[in-house]
Amino acid sequence: MATTVQSEVSTPSVQARTRRQLQLATRAWFAATTLGQLLFAAFIVLFYYTSVFSGNLAAWNTKPLITGYVAGDSAGNGQFAVHVLAAAAMTLAGLLQLVPPVRQHWPRLHRWSGRLFLILAMVLSLGGLWLVWVRGSYLTVTGALAISLDGLLILTFGAQAWVAARRRDFAAHRRWALRTFIAASGVWTMRIGYIAWGGLTGGAGIARGMSGPFDLFWGFATHLLPLAVLELYLRAERGGPLAQRAMAGGLWLISLLILGGSLGAWLAMWWPPIAA
Ligand code: HEM
Repeated sequence: MATTVQSEVSTPSVQARTRRQLQLATRAWFAATTLGQLLFAAFIVLFYYTSVFSGNLAAWNTKPLITGYVAGDSAGNGQFAVHVLAAAAMTLAGLLQLVPPVRQHWPRLHRWSGRLFLILAMVLSLGGLWLVWVRGSYLTVTGALAISLDGLLILTFGAQAWVAARRRDFAAHRRWALRTFIAASGVWTMRIGYIAWGGLTGGAGIARGMSGPFDLFWGFATHLLPLAVLELYLRAERGGPLAQRAMAGGLWLISLLILGGSLGAWLAMWWPPIAA
């Protein structure tokens, strides 16, 4: 029996089939992520870009923010404005980096949008750290530490991706760039994760002031969990058929959660996207 399973597992045709299954599941993950992040970017453009460029900063307070617009706080309001303007641009540049034809046929575009993505991710991380620790935009210290860890990971991974690209070590560059993308997607993952979890459990462990067990767990898991899945993916790519099949199944499940969470976030959080 063990010999039968072993030979079934290791034949070239089985390997080719499981590689295709993994590729298909990766495409499903990318399609769900693209749709979800485009909805996030559309909300940011329609709500924040319009309010910033029309000078109607007070409109921010129609959303349930920790610290939105504060009259007289020009440094805090300015930093928040830079943060949200950079957020949509970084999200779009990050998605562009993952489109295979862009990497294959337009390497100059890939290089320039890659630089833009990394610079904006760093601007968002440094600005976000300022919003948390200087402006005081946090509800719990655990939550503040969790988002700060995400910011530090983005800075570290982004620097590694840049250095590897300069060294022309493209295998290492791909790994660090993917880690940067996943860490920089943490704030989007947080929002869609809340919606998916709320929909599946009715909001178990979510408490006022984001102080419930789920809030504290999700603050860290929002970036650490997807990063752990990425490490498994990078190993599965080079692994055997069993690992590839398991990864493909996991990616399909994650894609469904992303899809449900993103559509739910659009309806429950981001709609109506127009600043009043
Ligand atoms: C790198 C990707 C990031 C993106 C795309 C992003 C995006 C956003 C957006 C869209 C908002 C407006 C709130 C909303 O309407 O949901 C926001 C607010 C905020 N962000 Fe970020 N952010 C990122 C990284 C960070 C990091 C790393 C930190 C902290 C270290 C941070 C801290 C904050 C804070 C404190 C606020 C204000 C929240 C409030 O007052 O309710 N952000 N961010």
